[in-house]
Amino acid sequence: MLDFSETATTARQERTRFMPQSFAAAPAALSEATGLGTIDRHGGRVSVDEKRMINCRADVNQLLPLKYKWAWEKYLAACNNHWMPTEVSMQADIALWKSRDGLSEDERRAIKRNLGFFAASESLVANNIVLAIYRHLTNPECRQYLLRQAFEEAVHTHTFQYIVESLGLDEGELFNMYREVPSITDKAAWAIKHTQHLDDPDFKIGTPQAGQAFLRDLVAFYVIFEGMWFYTGFAQILSFGRRNKMAGIAEQYQYILRDESIHLNFGIDVINQIKSENPHLWTSAFQEEVRNMIREAAELEAAYGRDTMPRGFLGLNAALCEQYMHFIANRRCAQIGLTPVFPEAENPFPWMSEAMDLKKEKNFFETRIIEYQNGGALDWG
Ligand SMILES: [Fe+2]
Ligand SMILES: [Fe+2]
Repeated sequence: MLDFSETATTARQERTRFMPQSFAAAPAALSEATGLGTIDRHGGRVSVDEKRMINCRADVNQLLPLKYKWAWEKYLAACNNHWMPTEVSMQADIALWKSRDGLSEDERRAIKRNLGFFAASESLVANNIVLAIYRHLTNPECRQYLLRQAFEEAVHTHTFQYIVESLGLDEGELFNMYREVPSITDKAAWAIKHTQHLDDPDFKIGTPQAGQAFLRDLVAFYVIFEGMWFYTGFAQILSFGRRNKMAGIAEQYQYILRDESIHLNFGIDVINQIKSENPHLWTSAFQEEVRNMIREAAELEAAYGRDTMPRGFLGLNAALCEQYMHFIANRRCAQIGLTPVFPEAENPFPWMSEAMDLKKEKNFFETRIIEYQNGGALDWG
């Protein structure tokens, strides 16, 4: 355990003076933040008051004592939601996809682009957690959740592999869409722009600029990628499911939605906690910048909607999806304490808010949850 006091800093400097050069040269703040620094054999025990979301000087390798119970509760909730894509039968989807007139060309195009968008996006989100967020989020209970979330993103990527294999889709076409279909590339490129600098080995949070860069990354991935763009994607596929078309994929998307709604809520809690511990980062100029990010992201989504649904089908069209994005964008603004970016918009897909309500989802999935809890328990008798 370390503290900020002058005495402790001086004592540390004294100790490092007698260390071999390779140890002494290690950037102290960085190694402490990752948890891979030299073990402090003389430090005191960690107390809850010393724990912080970012720039924490307390040992990040000790889960207990817990400070952020919301992070631990999300980890437990996520573990109770375990599922695998291969448990969902794809027989009806395969029959419908292979039938000559079961789906219109517009429907096929929308399904393929939707799958193509998600297939690479799950990997982008996973990479951001593992390579950018994890090392800078200096709290072990949040890291515990991130490890669970990383596994869930792997399960989601597995889902798209399973769908491609089941329906006999062209894997090259689907997994390259994020590079080859401009409306998908524009979204991926926009998100990557906000995480690239965190990948720099010299990046560390310590200045207000770096703290804001970290918040920008959290907004781009949790609030926008998972919290806005994924929701149009869910609405598209779930409207097929509501009409009993592609019911297997729709069921998988419901499981993904259930996971993603926890990812989103975790990200919102992380952002709000960092804000309350570091109010100097949340300046009015920065709030305006975040509102602009959300506005820009909604415009990118509208362009994607026009590209994937040029004519509309099953009660969906590009204009309704744009309206839905405005509704969601305003909701996300409220969740992180910002004023709305769009005039008040009515939710054109009220059935989606039922799917988003975790309590109702829990009831919906209750049987499966119980099956897992029993099936997963070891019998030592
Ligand atoms: Fe995911
Ligand atoms: Fe996610």
